[in-house]
Amino acid sequence: MTQRSKGSGVSAGRKFDRRDFLKMSGAGLAGAALLGSTACGGGGGSGSGDLIFAMGADTSGTLPDLIDKFNKQSEGFKVTYREMPTDSGAYFDKLRTQFQAGGGDIDVIGADVIWPAQFAANGWLLDVTDRFPKSDQSQFLPGPINSLMYDGKIYGVPWFTDAGLLYYRADLLEKSGYSEPPKTWDEMQEMAVKVAQDQNIANGFVFQGDQYEGGVCNGLEYIWTNGGDVLDPGDPNKVIIDSPEAAAGLAIEQGIVEDGVAPQAVATYTETETDPAFLGNKAVFARNWPYMYALAGTSDFPDVKPEQIGVAPLPVTQGNSLASTLGGWNMLINAQTDMPDEAWEFVQFMTSEQGQRQRAIAASLLPTRPTLYQDQEIRETIPVIVQGEEALKNARSRPVSPYYSDMSLEMQEQFNGVVKGD
Ligand code: GLC
Repeated sequence: MTQRSKGSGVSAGRKFDRRDFLKMSGAGLAGAALLGSTACGGGGGSGSGDLIFAMGADTSGTLPDLIDKFNKQSEGFKVTYREMPTDSGAYFDKLRTQFQAGGGDIDVIGADVIWPAQFAANGWLLDVTDRFPKSDQSQFLPGPINSLMYDGKIYGVPWFTDAGLLYYRADLLEKSGYSEPPKTWDEMQEMAVKVAQDQNIANGFVFQGDQYEGGVCNGLEYIWTNGGDVLDPGDPNKVIIDSPEAAAGLAIEQGIVEDGVAPQAVATYTETETDPAFLGNKAVFARNWPYMYALAGTSDFPDVKPEQIGVAPLPVTQGNSLASTLGGWNMLINAQTDMPDEAWEFVQFMTSEQGQRQRAIAASLLPTRPTLYQDQEIRETIPVIVQGEEALKNARSRPVSPYYSDMSLEMQEQFNGVVKGD
């Protein structure tokens, strides 16, 4: 039983949840029960109060804009944005703590694609299977939809998608006589060293090697592009990350740092350190997600303009298939919300064609609706969609498992060790 309303005796903007209920006693409890029965009688989401939406800080500034837009047209309730850590793992920990303590007060969650299985297994998410039937699901890319499935039910709506990409300085490559980006890791290293030397650039390559979720995404890309995997595709209970292929992949990642193609500092790099390195004219190549493209030439990163940048699929080791880590973010609803209808209305707005279009154009956040990939304006504004198409098609999921967060912690430590030369 939850209570949220203005003038209910509960401080404005704060929900009265089960935890509060348990903490109370005596007269307080009686009073609360009275309040609770009035509120529950009116049904969840009586139309008063705020809906709380959580998401990591948004560098593009498009998020507050969109929420404002929603609030202007919404009747009876407003959405408040609660800023969460940008680091996926730190954000996850915060949510898990709140869920374990009884649900917390967040209604709608902007969530990494690796979370739904674990949250759903614990009963923390609203099952939206009835609101989001197969016929509507088919209007979204299958990868992000799969990330939302647990036990035959769906627990949210895909918002934007991600895949690891190879960014390169097309202008510098050309000056050094290269007309195409590299296809193999060997070629990439050779080109990186030569172009950095020729054009007096500090680093050949930068990527995310820190001990965190992004480090897992990078490490897996070396494993996959060398023919390895984490779990056996034929038997997902079998861990095969100790295969010679996986080891060979991680050896490439290690070699890139050992040979000085990437600086040793990448062992502490996340996305946040990658942006100024590549867009600050300090690297020939970078591995990053699509969002970095929109930052080129902005006031924070004026040194490198979008037209100097090319995007390609990540290199592979000769004879292996293309692979990138599938990233991205979904919109989930807290199972404990007392405003499920309002929450759903907001989720639909954010994931609509219009909502996704705005974020694609302004922030180079890739849509989860395939129809938007044909949109002329999007294709022209963010060529990442065109140049990165092959990478997107070959994006692979991290293991979908209720135990993923534990698997990830282990990989974070091991992969960071690889980058540090252990
Ligand atoms: C991006 C991806 C997300 C991934 C994270 C790692 O935000 O979309 O899936 O976990 O990067 O840093």
